Amino acid sequence: MNKRPRRLRYNPLIRDLVRETTLSLSDLIYPLFIIEGYQIKEEISSLKGVYRYSLDTLEEEIHEIVQLGIKYVLLFGIPKDKDNKGSEAYNEHGIIQKAIRKIKSITDKLYVITDVCMCEYTAHGHCGILNGEGYVDNEKSLFYLGRIAVSHAQAGADMIAPSDMMDGRVAYMRRELDDHGFTHIPIMSYSAKYASSFYGPFREAAGSAPQFGDRKSYQMDYCNGNEALREVQLDIEEGADIVMIKPALAYLDIIRRVKDEFNIPIAAYNVSGEYAMLKLAIEQGLLDEKVIMETLLGIKRAGADIIITYFAKMIAKELNG
Ligand code: PBG
Repeated sequence: MNKRPRRLRYNPLIRDLVRETTLSLSDLIYPLFIIEGYQIKEEISSLKGVYRYSLDTLEEEIHEIVQLGIKYVLLFGIPKDKDNKGSEAYNEHGIIQKAIRKIKSITDKLYVITDVCMCEYTAHGHCGILNGEGYVDNEKSLFYLGRIAVSHAQAGADMIAPSDMMDGRVAYMRRELDDHGFTHIPIMSYSAKYASSFYGPFREAAGSAPQFGDRKSYQMDYCNGNEALREVQLDIEEGADIVMIKPALAYLDIIRRVKDEFNIPIAAYNVSGEYAMLKLAIEQGLLDEKVIMETLLGIKRAGADIIITYFAKMIAKELNG
């Protein structure tokens, strides 16, 4: 038997033919930060190349995104007022609700996903409603999260993405959406969301750092992997259409385990800290820009079908040549 290796790697054309994993714009979701006010387009200092837009400056950005061929966006709102109930999050005229309507009035080529959480809207910066002792009250939070989800759907969101990590929220939001006539709106659940230091730049971007304590009572302990499988299973049983693992890079094993265990689309969130690290290293000339593609391909190879990434515009430019 001839065991000589078949040198498949030597010819670029055959490399394409035998490629196992590819990346296209259909895999990517681009996060957008929308802020109240006028004529604002401010670069987020911890996330170079990522901006906060007010509704008026958003228009130009939306045109650019569509031009680049990006199809999916994930919206985060930065309200002007915060209170203990995060009431701006479900206000019909809140920043996100206005942003959804605005985007839908500009284009029908963008699929609009909204992050459903309270931390950008509560004065205390936690992801739910607090009880008297300063702990998040899971049941009370569900009621408000349901209202937020429905208000996003009413404004025209195509999909909602709960990131609050309260127990039972997928089932609760599913029922609320269905009861309000939004049976067709899917849920992408942040199922395995770890209490991670990689969210640091995002919290600066969205002004959502907790004012006291941390999120460890409702986000996951990074020492645990089996727990992620239980969380994913529960979310699937509750009606999630897509499950998410977040962050991505220190959790590639979790992505792979979920892929092997369940038959459901998997999204991985390539979070703000992961972006910031590479971006800084590239800017400093320590790493070549090619590391971005290598990183995202690694996340896909681990088993992600979808990647939420601040690199989406850079990748779009590269893929478009
Ligand atoms: C809201 C939310 C966070 C992120 C996405 N949704 C922050 C957090 O949980 O503290 C982080 C995204 C990123 O770091 O890019 N709960």
